[in-house]
Amino acid sequence: MDKENKKISIYIFGKKYRVPESLTIQKAMEYSGFRFIRNCGCRGGVCGACITVYRLPDDYRIRTALACQKIVEPEMYLTQVPFVPSRKATYDILDNPEIAENPIQKLYPEVSGCVFCNTCSKACPMDIEVMDYIAAAIQGDIREVAQISFECVMCGLCAARCPAEISQFNVALLARRVYGSHILPFPPDVKLMVKEIREGKYQEVLDRLSQLDMEKLKEIYSKREQEPQESEGWEPKEKDFPLPYLQ
Ligand code: SF4
Ligand code: SF4
Ligand code: FES
Repeated sequence: MDKENKKISIYIFGKKYRVPESLTIQKAMEYSGFRFIRNCGCRGGVCGACITVYRLPDDYRIRTALACQKIVEPEMYLTQVPFVPSRKATYDILDNPEIAENPIQKLYPEVSGCVFCNTCSKACPMDIEVMDYIAAAIQGDIREVAQISFECVMCGLCAARCPAEISQFNVALLARRVYGSHILPFPPDVKLMVKEIREGKYQEVLDRLSQLDMEKLKEIYSKREQEPQESEGWEPKEKDFPLPYLQ
């Protein structure tokens, strides 16, 4: 029997199901007849909607995962968590320059209650060192918080497990916003692009694109050059894209 077809037993919300062993938790649930109306978004490990808690046989530990990423394991006992209610401070990041000075202590003073148990890092399905960014937050090191938390998908599992009841991911979101709006220099290319958009440089192209049907749009979209991950100094070869495809 090939791996695709070999079946194992798992328990979903306490009920036993036989599912192919190659499936993710999300696909195994669909295979078992569940239809997602929540707990599912991107299906690609980005949105953080599919948070799942499970235990394995003969293991006392409770484990966490993103259902769209984690492959099922024999006798896995799982449930999904629809949502983790978390505290989110309200602030206007642009109209409030003082926010750049020690914003975390002002808006999330509860970070000081961290007991450095590392439960949050162990719960994180993205393997982020959550405790380290909370330690950086306590020290007011915005850049460090922003950089360590960069891959956070806002799933909330860290907050669900924290004995100090900190909403770590909202603290990190604040740090990334402050870092982007008050600490990093504004990229000159973006400034130029905004100016050109305001001056109507792209209006004619936009008008022509909006006349096209979906198939033609997809075709043109697939021809675009993609900016590389390390994009410093990068420029597209076709400077007048998509004009040549609109003739
Ligand atoms: S830091 Fe928290 S909210 Fe972000 S991905 Fe990790 S567990 Fe989820
Ligand atoms: S789980 Fe809470 S108390 Fe423990 S290290 Fe993380 S932030 Fe601190
Ligand atoms: S569905 Fe988006 S992370 Fe799993």
